[in-house]
Amino acid sequence: MKGLILSGGRGTRLRPLTYTSAKQLIPLANRPILFYAIDALAAAGIDDIGIVTGDTGREVEEAVGDGARFGVSITYIPQGAPLGLAHAVQVSRDFLGDSAFVMYLGDNLVRRGIVPIVEEFKRTCPDALILLAHVEDPRQFGVAEFDGGRLARLVEKPSVTTSDLALVGVYVFNSTVFDAIDAIDYSDRGELEITDAIQQIIDAGRIVESHIILESHQARVATWKDTGRLEDLLEANRLVLDEIEPLVEISIGPDVRVEGKVVVSAGARLHDCVVRGPAIIGAGTCIESAFIGPYTSISDCCTVRHAEVENSILLQGSVVEDIVGRIDSSLIGKECLVRRTSKRPRAHKLLLGDHSRLEMS
Ligand code: DAU
Repeated sequence: MKGLILSGGRGTRLRPLTYTSAKQLIPLANRPILFYAIDALAAAGIDDIGIVTGDTGREVEEAVGDGARFGVSITYIPQGAPLGLAHAVQVSRDFLGDSAFVMYLGDNLVRRGIVPIVEEFKRTCPDALILLAHVEDPRQFGVAEFDGGRLARLVEKPSVTTSDLALVGVYVFNSTVFDAIDAIDYSDRGELEITDAIQQIIDAGRIVESHIILESHQARVATWKDTGRLEDLLEANRLVLDEIEPLVEISIGPDVRVEGKVVVSAGARLHDCVVRGPAIIGAGTCIESAFIGPYTSISDCCTVRHAEVENSILLQGSVVEDIVGRIDSSLIGKECLVRRTSKRPRAHKLLLGDHSRLEMS
């Protein structure tokens, strides 16, 4: 069996970060989301993996490399334009050949992995296996509708639906899917939809198995996250941080208190601060006269000085300094500067990219 990770697309909901970077490379506990997808496939014994890339392909290739460090082999498959999930499969045809494959959306996090799913597919040999989860707002997802216990219809982001069962971003197919994709048309939003291709497989009388991975909305918190939006990204970060192994790789002075599950990477400098886990501090980062609260991931080479940060993600090289009040539920991109200044006039001075969000209290 092969793996196909989709890492193209536009990432419009995470702008402005995604103007310059791949959303699949935003880190959870200081590791790109995409790495967790590769881990999940590798853990299921899949070591031949294609990664579909778009405009950010070079950055993805630089981050992932040839796959050796994950124990897998990676083939990069450029997708000329983000024309849909089924289009991404279509352009991967040469790589996939006749093999059955797991398609894994590179911005999804499935915490308990996919080993049981892959085993179920191998045992029952359907044409497709889809994962479903009960969600609060099905309109953001592909939705599955059942008729007398039988999977009848799949609809992509319906405005009205009778079902709260969303398609999770992990699918298993055999090569039947290529005929199905050849038979569908572009949707109204201009994409070849994988939901339409699966519907085609159902309508052709072939076997599509479904597997509900979550039994309730509450359980969803612990198992699956589509990280397309900021709130979901922060929740995914919390999920991963909840499971980190504490490891402090530097010697800590008496003016520093580290509480709970905390990772401090080699080369970080901590002075006069409290780090309350779960939290991770990257290499070369300086935390001084600061509080780092639970569920915070601070990447490499950042500075947090005279400030308090909690439930947030800071990307590489960012500086947060002299801030009154706590920074909470925030995603701060690479090389950003968030600082209080004493210069007059006393005013908020902003340099924000398009689609930035700033909430001040
Ligand atoms: O997360 C689950 C949902 O994922 C499903 O419920 C939906 O049925 C499915 O369409 C998908 O919806 P999204 O709106 O989340 O899809 P998105 O455009 O974010 O793309 C998912 C991943 O696939 C993301 O890593 C980008 C990548 N992608 C997307 C497109 C449209 C590609 O590589 N190529 C593409 O053409």
